[in-house]
Amino acid sequence: MTTKNLFLLPGDGIGPEIMAEVKAVIGFINEAGLADFQTDEGLVGGCAYDAHGRAISEEDMAKALAADAVLFGAVGGPKWDAVPYDVRPEAGLLRLRKDLGLFANLRPAICYPALAAASSLKPEVVEGLDILIVRELTGGVYFGEPKEIVTLENGQRRAVDTQLYTTGEIERIARVAFDLARTRSGRVASAEKRNVMKSGVLWNQVVTKVGADEYPEIKLEHVLADNCAMQLVRWPKQYDVIVCDNLFGDILSDVAAMLTGSLGMLPSASLGAPDPATGTRRALYEPVHGSAPDIAGQGLANPIAMLGSFAMALRYSFGLIDLAEKLDAAIAEVLDSGTRTKDIASEGSNVVSTTEMGAAILKAFKAKVG
Ligand code: NAD
Ligand code: IPM
Ligand code: MN
Repeated sequence: MTTKNLFLLPGDGIGPEIMAEVKAVIGFINEAGLADFQTDEGLVGGCAYDAHGRAISEEDMAKALAADAVLFGAVGGPKWDAVPYDVRPEAGLLRLRKDLGLFANLRPAICYPALAAASSLKPEVVEGLDILIVRELTGGVYFGEPKEIVTLENGQRRAVDTQLYTTGEIERIARVAFDLARTRSGRVASAEKRNVMKSGVLWNQVVTKVGADEYPEIKLEHVLADNCAMQLVRWPKQYDVIVCDNLFGDILSDVAAMLTGSLGMLPSASLGAPDPATGTRRALYEPVHGSAPDIAGQGLANPIAMLGSFAMALRYSFGLIDLAEKLDAAIAEVLDSGTRTKDIASEGSNVVSTTEMGAAILKAFKAKVG
């Protein structure tokens, strides 16, 4: 059995609390001889800033680059609101995404049957929901230059962020979306704002051409991003795969999260391009949510987004499809039993803490693989 190297970056706030539940699952997988994961752990975000004044150290960046996969908790919090912009906690995450070349961010929003009542929307709107947001992750306004605040001669200050995309960047994310649609219902919705933004015009043209030239069997629809946000709340089941730029993907995935009951439910995989020689790709797995400072340290965090992100790692980085399916099934089973963290609780739920939820999922997982 080959050893796989996992680099763990729990981060700030609830990050270490939810990562602890993944560590327990990894420990069991190793003990049971189902796989051989070697783990190492580093600092990212505010805790890294506190330790050495940077959002991630060069040493930890090197470990992330060398790992078979990175598992990331969450970063940020009010404690670091006033730190210089370049070393703010979120800069650590953005550097990881950029330097690892993680251009494709897969954010599946699945409404588990037991949670249809936990969504703020009507059960019939979300029941059976299974959509996938494919977010471009290393381009757009997050990284475009110039990005600055300058003081003008008249004393006013002017802030600039630059939305920038090249055809190559759009083509490769479009291919990821089309390839995934082939394994699903064969439908892609591309969200942009071609009515206002030049980058939206180019996005629309390039996605259309990739679709027509390489994926004629896939049904492609274009939707303006603001309308897409509304449609996600009105009737989300009209979509299957949604592909969009970095900023729209950030916003649309938080909207999609609430369809599943809670932001604490949404996992994600951030993938690089496959290495032409080995076929392997760099990858980082993280929940869609942040460090949740309002509930940190209270045992209230839902660990499912983090556990689901580890299930995505089993699937996409290690080809351990059976284990991934069993971990996802363990999550569904625990939810079916009425066990809930507070964010997804409804009347009659058995409300439990982060560690109790993690333990219940691990127990169900053990029963499935045992
Ligand atoms: P957030 O996602 O941290 O929290 C938003 C709301 O969702 C809060 O009420 C929180 O309690 C709740 N929530 C989030 N995750 C939950 C979970 N697992 N279980 C139960 N409830 C959960 O967003 P925010 O409050 O806007 O941001 C807080 C900090 O996190 C900021 O510094 C932000 O930059 C950072 N952030 C980091 C990441 C990341 O590390 N990937 C993602 C988003 C935000
Ligand atoms: C996310 C987060 C990040 C983003 C922040 C923390 C940089 O909101 O992963 O959704 O904006 O991409
Ligand atoms: Mn976000």
